[in-house]
Parts: sequence; C-alpha cells; structure tokens
Amino acid sequence: PDQSGMAYSVGTTLDRFINLKQNDFPFASGELSQLLRDIALAAKIVNRETNRAGLANIGGAFGQTNVQGEEQQKLDVIANIRFMRALSKGGEVCAIVSEEEDAVIDLQNNSGKYVVAIDPLDGSSNIDVNISIGTIFSIYRRKTPLGQPIQSEDIMQPGKDQVAAGYVLYGSSTMLVYTTGFGVNGFTYENSLGEFFLSHPNIQAPKKGGIYSINEGLQNEWEQSVKNYVDHCKDQRYAARYIGSLVADFHRNLLKGGIYIYPATTKNPSGKLRLLYEANALAFIAEQAGAVATNGQKSILDLSPNILHQRTPLIIGSERMVEDYLKITKQEE
Ligand code: AHG
Ligand code: MN
Ligand code: MN
Ligand code: MN
Repeated sequence: PDQSGMAYSVGTTLDRFINLKQNDFPFASGELSQLLRDIALAAKIVNRETNRAGLANIGGAFGQTNVQGEEQQKLDVIANIRFMRALSKGGEVCAIVSEEEDAVIDLQNNSGKYVVAIDPLDGSSNIDVNISIGTIFSIYRRKTPLGQPIQSEDIMQPGKDQVAAGYVLYGSSTMLVYTTGFGVNGFTYENSLGEFFLSHPNIQAPKKGGIYSINEGLQNEWEQSVKNYVDHCKDQRYAARYIGSLVADFHRNLLKGGIYIYPATTKNPSGKLRLLYEANALAFIAEQAGAVATNGQKSILDLSPNILHQRTPLIIGSERMVEDYLKITKQEE
C-alpha cells in the first residue's frame, strides 16, 4: 500500500490508476487527471516515432541549433511538436516551457489552470545509436487567476510548488514514472495493447547505493572537491555507470541505489542541466521516493528560478550517497 494506504494491484492500467488516485485530491475536478492522460498519449506517440526513427528517416540532425546552442536532432523537434500539440489540444494547460523553445509558449487558453515545463527528448546524443532516451516534465498550477500567464508569477516557480512531475524512459521497455506528491509509481507500456500498466508501485529509493554516474571525461574541469568525492567512490569500489541520458541514469539509480552528478565545469560554470525541465522534475520524484537532490548548497526544490533556461549543478540519488558527497565536498570549503 502506498502513502494513501491504498494497495494497487500490479497490472492496473494507468487510466484506472489515475482515476483511483484522483481521490487523493480534495475537490479534484479531474483536470490534472486529464492532463496526465494527455501526457501519456504524447508519450505513446513519441514512443512510436522513437522506435522507427532509423526507418522513417527521422534520425540525425534537424539542421538548426536551439537556444541552448545545441544542434537539434530531428527527434528533438518531433517530440517537442507532439507534446506541445497534445498539451494544447488537451485544454488543461495555459503555458509551456520547453528546452526546444526559446521563449514561453502561451497557448492562448485562459481556462487552462496548469503550466508545464518539459524536456521533450532527453539524451539526444543517444538517438542515432539506439541507446535509451527520455522525456522529462514538471506540472505547476498557474498562480495568477486568469488571463495571459505572467512569466514571473506563473512560469518561474520554484520546484517545491510542483503539483506533479514525471519522466518517460524509451528503453528496452518504455516506462512512464510520475508523482503527484503521494509517492512515485512506474508504468510499463504494452505496445500490442497501447496501454501503460502499473509495474512499479510506490517506488522507494534504496538509502545506500554502489553506483556513481558522472562524465569523467570532464574531470579536468571539476573543482578539487568533486575529484575528492569521485576518488571516494573508487575507494568504495562503486560501479561507474554513465549513459549520457539523464533519465536512464536517474531511473537505474532510483531503483538500484546510486548517485548522479553533473557538477559545475569550466565550460558550464552553473552546471549543464536545466532547472525548469530537468532538475526540478527529477528532484520532486527523488524526494517522493526517499532520495535527495541538491545543487551542492541547497535542495533543488528550494531554488527560485530567475532565467527561463537556467542551468544548475545537479547531485541526485540515494540519501546516504548525497550526504557523503556533501560531507566530502564541504570539507573543501
Ligand atoms: P538533452 O539531450 O535533453 O540536451 O540532455 C542531455 C543531458 C543529459 O541527458 C545527460 O546526462 C547529459 O546531458 C550528458 O551531458 P555530457 O555529454 O556533457 O556528459
Ligand atoms: Mn538538448
Ligand atoms: Mn535533457
Ligand atoms: Mn532534451
């Protein structure tokens, strides 16, 4: 049984689960439930595109760079369009922040109560080599009562104000993992039925772990204290596992116990990962699963964004491992 005491039988469909969990929200009017269904639909569509990218000539570069200065992959653009369209048609969302859009997208939908921040395709460098990739999303309730969303009020919200967050992992199987603040649940997609089924009820992250994920190729760009922690990992004979897709590294560490670190580097002095549509969502999920997410000084969820595509160092994973990281790196200061 999860935090609300309900026991869910593995095999429940996502749709039925969403309906059952709606009772967690007093006065629930079903709008968040509908938004979650809209995201699941887009995930099914992107899953199909992903699985046939090599055949449908939608692999490779799109030929433009995004606001991050990254060369967009075709699937980045396709996933972005699919999610934006699903959220726009669903009618529950008033504004979207996307990694692949320079500015906030105002859906001109004044009855939409929700704002979504999304990384439509995470791990783009892995698309053409058939390694797991993902989607990451955060859901906020708009703060201003109605009318055109205000960026400072409705969009730039701290992670602690999320009402829901999740990710899709397009891997050996496709999974949707999300939380609405009452625990974390994982669903596995059954292609032949076109349905997500509950496969990982009430995910709890191991408090300790033996896996560390960091791009060691950037070692010469780290602060000494980060090197000291990585040396600690080697002294402990932890396994080094780094896929280059944050969602895949995060998901493995969440289930098995581990830590993922993307620290400040010379090239990215504020870290590479983006606060609004990568760090916040995974931090909410981590904390709901009994794990921890920090920027090295503060909890990710307590950071107040002031730039749309703001980057942050991200240290996220098993509680004891993040504690060790903070202890060892703080010693340096
Ligand atoms: P995205 O593909 O959405 O831009 O995100 C890529 C991120 C993350 O998924 C991954 O862990 C990290 O970038 C890899 O960065 P490095 O190649 O610098 O290690
Ligand atoms: Mn990118
Ligand atoms: Mn990403
Ligand atoms: Mn991306």
